Amino acid sequence: MRSEPRTIGVGVIGAGWLGDVHARAWGRLRHHYGDLGVTPLFAAVADSVPGARAAAVGKHGFATAYGDWHELIADPAVEAVSVTAPNALHREIGVAVAEAGKHLWIEKPVGLSAGDAEAVAAAVAAAGVQGTVGFNYRAIPAMAKLRELVVGGAIGTPTHARVRLLTDYAAHPLGTLTWRYSLASGGHGVLGDLASHAVDLARFVLGDFESLVAQTAIYIQQRPQLVPGAATYGHGLGDPEAPTGIVENEDYVQAMIRTRSGVLVALESSRVAVGEQNNYGIEVHGTTGLVEWDFRSPGELRLSTGTTYADQPTQRFLVGPGAGDHGRFQPGSAIPTSYDDTKVIELAGFVRSILSGMPEGPVLADAVASARALDAMVTSAAGAGWVTL
Ligand SMILES: NC(=O)c1ccc[n+]([C@@H]2O[C@H](COP(=O)([O-])OP(=O)(O)OC[C@H]3O[C@@H](n4cnc5c(N)ncnc54)[C@H](O)[C@@H]3O)[C@@H](O)[C@H]2O)c1
Repeated sequence: MRSEPRTIGVGVIGAGWLGDVHARAWGRLRHHYGDLGVTPLFAAVADSVPGARAAAVGKHGFATAYGDWHELIADPAVEAVSVTAPNALHREIGVAVAEAGKHLWIEKPVGLSAGDAEAVAAAVAAAGVQGTVGFNYRAIPAMAKLRELVVGGAIGTPTHARVRLLTDYAAHPLGTLTWRYSLASGGHGVLGDLASHAVDLARFVLGDFESLVAQTAIYIQQRPQLVPGAATYGHGLGDPEAPTGIVENEDYVQAMIRTRSGVLVALESSRVAVGEQNNYGIEVHGTTGLVEWDFRSPGELRLSTGTTYADQPTQRFLVGPGAGDHGRFQPGSAIPTSYDDTKVIELAGFVRSILSGMPEGPVLADAVASARALDAMVTSAAGAGWVTL
């Protein structure tokens, strides 16, 4: 797509980890997608913590910093808004951005429940603006290749799959009780945080879900409360002598899923898996083969394809130009793209949708589908057994 040169005024709400990642992506858009003809203007940042917004201004050069996000949305210099605030704010901010007629790039899981995601999706549709959701694992070039191989029949007919997101960021019992651990501000625990990506990847590769059954667990029941005035974010350790508060959402989930096309998927996700650092991946088995991707080796797939069946070799497939947008970042195979690159790829889709008026996934309908699956896992784990979606 080659477009007329134009600018887009960018606003970022929530200057924590992902706010910084979004701002970096806006800053790199022209490095990799100069053909879009778009120059981002860093119009405004909003964060309730003064130090966080000052740091964002220092790093990215935002023209204005607001303590109140309503003011950012009202700023006429802002045309597109990154929403990277905690989950409890997604619904109110997402709806307000759309109602102000501004384009929305919002982080997963888009609120605390399917109802929240549906409200944002409805506001975006009613306003006729574009909405992109932060399911950036789709954007990994190897994932685009994996999907192409599965859909193209390289492993025959898909039969069963495993998807996992196991990590340890909450494994330390003294990890402080931030917004992530409360139902009111975080919503689901590992479900919204990590399993939302797992659900989206499984849907991206294998299609919509028909039904599921799940169980969940909280392994660390209490955590030290935050010292008043301390940062409300991050994964820092608390004072062992500090009063503790209750963890309200799940540390772990395992689910069995049946897709509409009949593929059986085993999903597992943990935020307290000692010894695992971002052990994320998907393995898809088919009638004639296997394809597997691991986050820790992002530029390669394990692929078994052919007609040998038993003892069929499995190859290491090094991903290169031709796999998704790999060629926008690196000239050859085996030079992996990074986590940050996935956000630049996702942003390019968002910007293309703004320029063309044609939505490009992941869109809010994907957030709604993911959130409905997560809600179904909660319902199932509470005793409902198999839940039909
Ligand atoms: N796509 C991904 O891979 C990915 C990874 C991590 C987080 N996320 C999502 O990004 C979002 C943010 O997560 P994070 O890890 O950056 O969290 P974080 O805690 O690091 O940052 C959140 C920021 O929002 C600010 N904030 C809180 N209340 C606010 C308010 N009322 N107005 C404005 N700012 C406010 C906080 O001060 C903080 O700076 C979450 O929804 C999370 O699910 C996505």
